[in-house]
Amino acid sequence: MNDSELVEETIVFVKETLRGAEGGHDWFHIQRVFNNTLLLAKDENVSILVVSLSALLHDIADPKFHNGDESVGPRLAKEFLESLNVADKVVKHVIDIIKNMSFKNSLDKNRKPFNTKELQVVQDADRLDAIGAIGIARAFNYGGFKNRELYNPTIAPNLKMTKEEYKKSVAPTINHFYEKLLLLKDKMNTKTGKKIAEERHQFMLAYLKQFYEEWNGQL
Ligand code: ADP
Ligand code: NI
Repeated sequence: MNDSELVEETIVFVKETLRGAEGGHDWFHIQRVFNNTLLLAKDENVSILVVSLSALLHDIADPKFHNGDESVGPRLAKEFLESLNVADKVVKHVIDIIKNMSFKNSLDKNRKPFNTKELQVVQDADRLDAIGAIGIARAFNYGGFKNRELYNPTIAPNLKMTKEEYKKSVAPTINHFYEKLLLLKDKMNTKTGKKIAEERHQFMLAYLKQFYEEWNGQL
């Protein structure tokens, strides 16, 4: 199989695997991350095959929906790529990216850092989909899925969470802005990613301002 056939096969597999997924982590999330990845990759010297496969496979079994088990996604991705006879080196790189790109893993102080240009591109592409208008929609969709409060002025955001606390948190969705979404713009790796993130960040700030005004009956 040539590279574009591998990517096509992977798209079919991911669409099938994510059927019925929560709205913020469904095939359309993957499609947006894949498109962002190709956009960011234009300005970076990276393997298009590695970033494409990583973007497509990065959320096939999110631990949030598998009782916190972080090994399911990488295992499924590895089995799938091996079934297509993808070169070992490519499989290893893709799996290392999937295991290491998530925000919660960056909260784990004991983790040995893994970092390549390819990881940086896919991580930025995923982060862009967590902020801005889409990011807001995804956060509230996830909060609804988990039956969280929209906002509760008596529950303050926790900015010092460990990875385990972050995974267990049941805080209102507005807190997630302070605990993750507003932190992402300063964590971007690529130049293009930083620029897009800055605009989306400003949009979230404007959104929050209006949210509190409406909450307080000021409009
Ligand atoms: P990662 O998979 O990069 O570690 P998360 O699992 O924290 O990131 O979140 C992925 C997306 O899921 C977030 O960008 C957000 O849209 C949604 N999400 C996760 N946790 C929450 C939460 N506590 N409240 C609202 N949305 C959340
Ligand atoms: Ni994702």
